[in-house]
Amino acid sequence: MGKRFLTWKKNVPAPYRKWKDGVLVCCDANEFLSGMRDEIADIVFLDPPFNLGKKYGNRGAKADLMDEQDYISFIQEILLGSVRVLKKGGALYLYHIPQWAVRLGSFLDKKMSFRHWIAVSMKNGFARGDFLYPAHYALLYFTKGKPTSFHRPKLPPPKCRKCNEYIRDYGGYKQFVKEGINLTDIWEDLSPVRHRNKKNRLENELPLELVRRVIQISGKRGGVFVDPFVGSGTSIVAVAESGMRFLACDRESNCCDIAAGRLSSFKAGK
Ligand SMILES: C[S@@+](CC[C@H](N)C(=O)[O-])C[C@H]1O[C@@H](n2cnc3c(N)ncnc32)[C@H](O)[C@@H]1O
Repeated sequence: MGKRFLTWKKNVPAPYRKWKDGVLVCCDANEFLSGMRDEIADIVFLDPPFNLGKKYGNRGAKADLMDEQDYISFIQEILLGSVRVLKKGGALYLYHIPQWAVRLGSFLDKKMSFRHWIAVSMKNGFARGDFLYPAHYALLYFTKGKPTSFHRPKLPPPKCRKCNEYIRDYGGYKQFVKEGINLTDIWEDLSPVRHRNKKNRLENELPLELVRRVIQISGKRGGVFVDPFVGSGTSIVAVAESGMRFLACDRESNCCDIAAGRLSSFKAGK
């Protein structure tokens, strides 16, 4: 990693772990972002705590149950920092529940160009009170002006598990469909990693494929990917696969250990 890439605007805590293609820091996300120089990132990826009382690391559930106004201030500071560190044409992705995505999206809309509200299918939600059954998370996609990198991924068309035929009727377009169908803004084929034996930790963990798609859409080789809430390290594994570089952070040292271990195993080919 070049020297320039490592130049922080002001001191942030020393790297928890360093690799040739990235740095992992253990500190508060706002401290991490505020230490960074302006306009260095190609992608900022945000999967923040949802303020729903999850227990991360050694902090109790209360740490993820902030007063609503404090939570808004915290996330808005994260968004402002993210916009500042993004290069012109860079992409910001925010993963959240719709109730918050709508509010935070309207805040972001004043500063960035809205591209998509991607609905990521949610399995095993619970209907509460007089609400419909919640069936998706929002993945908001904004860019800082016109995107400098944009690619539309293709997916294999869904097939019936039993007869191996296409589920949809593509009429006369069947021959083109073989090359793959265009990714839409509804991602029904992904869901959070839930099975204990597949998870790297007990708390939330995104599917690797979700971050891979983000990188396919907005990434570029050698570009810089920033994740202030790295958790179990899903994003940095996807980044390492892609040839991008990363700056990542989590305030919990045990999450940093899990993320670092996961990345090192990936690099060692395990
Ligand atoms: C929803 S999880 C991220 C999961 C991650 N995307 C993955 O796939 O494993 C949110 C993470 O943010 C961390 N976190 C919570 N508050 C933070 C803060 N103020 N600064 C930095 N990290 C924080 C938590 O420790 C947790 O690991």
